[in-house]
Amino acid sequence: MLNTVENLSKLIDKEIKLIDLGKKPASLYDPLYYILSLGGKRIRPLLTLMAYTLYRDHPEEAIKPALAVEVFHNFTLMHDDIMDKAPLRRGRTTVHEKWDSNVAILSGDVMLIKAYELLMHVETKKLKKIISAFNTCAALVCEGQQFDMDFETRKEVLEEEYIEMIKLKTAVLLGFSLELGGIIGEASDQDCEALRNFGINIGIGFQLKDDLLDVYADQSKFGKQVGGDIIANKKTLLLIEAINKSKGKTKQELFGWLSKEQFDPAEKVNAIMTIYDKLNVREIAEQKIDRYFSIGLDYLSSISAPKHKIAILKTFTQHLINREK
Ligand code: IPE
Ligand code: IPE
Ligand code: MG
Ligand code: MG
Ligand code: MG
Repeated sequence: MLNTVENLSKLIDKEIKLIDLGKKPASLYDPLYYILSLGGKRIRPLLTLMAYTLYRDHPEEAIKPALAVEVFHNFTLMHDDIMDKAPLRRGRTTVHEKWDSNVAILSGDVMLIKAYELLMHVETKKLKKIISAFNTCAALVCEGQQFDMDFETRKEVLEEEYIEMIKLKTAVLLGFSLELGGIIGEASDQDCEALRNFGINIGIGFQLKDDLLDVYADQSKFGKQVGGDIIANKKTLLLIEAINKSKGKTKQELFGWLSKEQFDPAEKVNAIMTIYDKLNVREIAEQKIDRYFSIGLDYLSSISAPKHKIAILKTFTQHLINREK
């Protein structure tokens, strides 16, 4: 079987459906199967398998660790949705709303443990390196998530602080997903590092795009609540730029909305979008997205794998820049 993106995706979908991560009590495990069954793009396990297939041809060898990354990602989403008070995930009710927050906390916790279990399905000689890289990454994700929450109530956040925050909460996991494929495929240390840096930079671009979609996506395609970041005063690049560029009355109006405790959500989203339009902050974010993706892609040129395989990874990356959900 050729290791095309389509075939690797099929392998992931098939294996996720077969996964047995526990049964009783149902209120612990049902939310886990629920969130996993909602799909999503599955880009992290795909990145692991794509990185692996740069060096070796049997993606089955890397499938369990690849699923570990997806289970970990879904755990972070389950907790993130509580923290962000999000009503929708992948077009369906979030776990803490369908069940309750306690259920989402513990079900998320057990997912983290199951992620470790899946990650252990690697050759013993690679285990320590992999667990150690994963531990580093997972702690950084928590740090990023906390910065994200702290920034909600901070009046101003620097662009550098924002970039560092999204690097932690999102990009390092994309970096790890790729590095993991490299390690299992026995890539050189230099290649593993280049893969990680590729992942971190496209990961920053990916989160910038996520923030853009949170404002400008088509609700029927997006699967999450459009405008959620505006409602929560998330210090996205769009908001940071708007704060920096606004003056006089516009600035007053912007800070007025940010400090309002009682408001009609749709009215706030509309008002802030009008300010974004006036200040052209969308273009600034789009340029930054392109920049980080292009820095990421540059790292691929140093990798010692067949050019046609690297090209598959590049094409896939292009789809991430242009995604609508
Ligand atoms: C959502 O990740 C959280 C972010 C880090 C932006 P994805 O956009 O990969 O979500 P799914 O898994 O495809 O639903
Ligand atoms: C999520 O960032 C990052 C993690 C889950 C660690 P967001 O809060 O922007 O993700 P979405 O938009 O809810 O998917
Ligand atoms: Mg969120
Ligand atoms: Mg969040
Ligand atoms: Mg988001």
